[in-house]
Amino acid sequence: MRFYDENILPYIIDKACSVGQVMKLRSQVVPQARGVVLEVGMGSGINLEFYNPDHTTLVYGLEPSEGMRRKARSNLAKSPVKVEWLGLPGEQIPLKDESVDTVLLTFTLCTIPDWLSALRQMHRVLKPDGVLLFLEHGQSPDTGVHKWQDRITPTWKKIAGGCHLNRPISELIQQAGFEVQALENLYMPKTPKIAGYIYKGRAVKAS
Ligand SMILES: C[S@@+](CC[C@H](N)C(=O)[O-])C[C@H]1O[C@@H](n2cnc3c(N)ncnc32)[C@H](O)[C@@H]1O
Repeated sequence: MRFYDENILPYIIDKACSVGQVMKLRSQVVPQARGVVLEVGMGSGINLEFYNPDHTTLVYGLEPSEGMRRKARSNLAKSPVKVEWLGLPGEQIPLKDESVDTVLLTFTLCTIPDWLSALRQMHRVLKPDGVLLFLEHGQSPDTGVHKWQDRITPTWKKIAGGCHLNRPISELIQQAGFEVQALENLYMPKTPKIAGYIYKGRAVKAS
């Protein structure tokens, strides 16, 4: 699967994650980023156009896949903000404690194998008054949908780069020591319900 993951999947993910309904949600979340930002799983850099350069100092783009980083070149060339790549997974964030103002997670928590370690790393590098912004798909509260998410995930994750359809995103964020301050859940329009239950919000370090 390595050839597929590094050479074909980046094109599929880039296309699927830049359709209109997804871009609309990104445009509601990414401009909230402030100061020094860590974007975990930056992928092909689809979020870059939505950063506001007036209040974003630097974006660390953490992305373990070389294929995704290659696919990001054109978005990087047009980026309104300065980007520094970190070619590592979220479980190994190579930044100092309390060094970033914003952590941005979009459509990535579904994929990170050790989500708890990765979220703890995000918690570690976030300043005490920093914010975690998230826009993720995950477990639906509707039993019928949830049942199908559980059934399909074992096969789905093999073809979708490790993506789980059934992670309860806001619960996972809280388990890692964050307090969710704002949360909006919705089914994304024009998307099958199993892949389109959205968690959009912000979290801070729990006191
Ligand atoms: C569905 S893509 C989303 C990309 C991007 N965040 C976006 O919104 O378009 C999931 C991304 O998570 C990355 N990823 C996979 N394992 C990861 C890990 N352990 N830590 C951080 N990112 C990871 C993948 O390489 C991929 O770029």
